[in-house]
Amino acid sequence: MAVEQTLSIIKPDAVRKNLIGAIVSRFEQAGLSVVAQRMLLLSRAQAEGFYAEHQGKPFFDGLVDFMTSGPVVVQVLSGENAIALNRELMGATDPAKAAPGTIRADYAEAINKNAVHGSDSPTSAAREVAYFFATHEVNLR
Ligand code: TYD
Ligand code: MG
Repeated sequence: MAVEQTLSIIKPDAVRKNLIGAIVSRFEQAGLSVVAQRMLLLSRAQAEGFYAEHQGKPFFDGLVDFMTSGPVVVQVLSGENAIALNRELMGATDPAKAAPGTIRADYAEAINKNAVHGSDSPTSAAREVAYFFATHEVNLR
């Protein structure tokens, strides 16, 4: 297995509930390191561009409303098998279907307020890391 980078977002619901530290702890305890991190309020254009693959789907406008409803933490996680490992830690998109002990099972309230985002493939990870971070920001260590 190789060391990978993946893009994580702590979404507005989790930020509102003071869960930034708890979520970052789970990543770190699982062997993922935060190699870049920033808090920001996404503009609608930024949220629409980030989720462009979902444009036209019935949940798209609600997703953009939610993702712009408050600050998020965008971060780059690095580690062995980071992309799949982060998806495992997150759990299924719908928290009602997420495995016990996953971030979404423990902290998310609904499919449309599900606490975290994580890149789903190496191709997505490369696009999503570059969407928020310059090369010099993700290679500090
Ligand atoms: P998706 O990429 O399918 O899920 P994941 O975040 O697990 O990669 O969908 C992106 C986000 O869109 C998802 O986290 C929450 C929202 N969403 C809904 O609100 N309703 C839905 O039915 C789906 C599939 C997603
Ligand atoms: Mg996805």
